[in-house]
Amino acid sequence: MYCLRTENLTKLYRNNGLEIPALKNVGMRVKRGEFVSLVGPSGSGKTTLLNLVGGLDRPTTGKVYIDDRDITAMSERQRSDMRLASIGFVFQEFNLIPVLSARENVEYVMLLQGISQGEAQRIAVETLAAVGLQGLENRRPNQLSGGQQQRVAVARAIATGPSIVLADEPTANLDSETGHNLVDAMRRLNDELGITFLLSTHDPMVIDSTTRVIRMRDGALLEEA
Ligand SMILES: Nc1ncnc2c1ncn2[C@@H]1O[C@H](COP(=O)(O)OP(=O)(O)OP(=O)(O)O)[C@@H](O)[C@H]1O
Ligand SMILES: [Mg+2]
Repeated sequence: MYCLRTENLTKLYRNNGLEIPALKNVGMRVKRGEFVSLVGPSGSGKTTLLNLVGGLDRPTTGKVYIDDRDITAMSERQRSDMRLASIGFVFQEFNLIPVLSARENVEYVMLLQGISQGEAQRIAVETLAAVGLQGLENRRPNQLSGGQQQRVAVARAIATGPSIVLADEPTANLDSETGHNLVDAMRRLNDELGITFLLSTHDPMVIDSTTRVIRMRDGALLEEA
């Protein structure tokens, strides 16, 4: 059973009459419980692919299936509901809300989903503990280190029980030890809770810790994935 599958995915960016083929016929499958890295030179299409499979952008042609549901056939509204329910995002720049505490940052997405305040708080405390941040729940992002902020972002991504977590260069802004701790935390979530991860990265340490590597070059996969 695949939690993520694409068919003939292409993306053509149009800029001032110039057409940039960012993705070419990408067919990719990720099974439930996998921990996969997506690697390739700068400009090879990693971010474009993650944005399409996460429903943040639409392909020029081709299909994206999340849990066997075709998200490319959905309306804007259906796609945003699907994103909230099924996808967790971790970005290079953490993207936390500065005026909210760590716990409130994690609660926020659950409140959007209609989960009650009490339940959201309980889950937020639990997921922050799962990424090793117990005791730091009430700190705001600027009172946390970069690695701690990124772990808040991971806690936020998993709090809603997504089918898959997509992470775009999650260790790019972290020193190597902090990056190592972050990847350990994600590996534990994968091992113990079976959460599926797809991580784009240039970081050999991240690549070594994943169970499968998907390689891209010039908008295409190097081999069937
Ligand atoms: N909004 C956009 N408009 C036009 N071209 C774009 C846009 N976003 C990306 N591109 C182009 O699409 C190609 C793929 O870019 P993408 O950001 O997906 O690469 P990447 O593999 O994530 O690179 P990096 O490792 O540097 O993050 C590049 O040629 C890039 O210049
Ligand atoms: Mg990128």
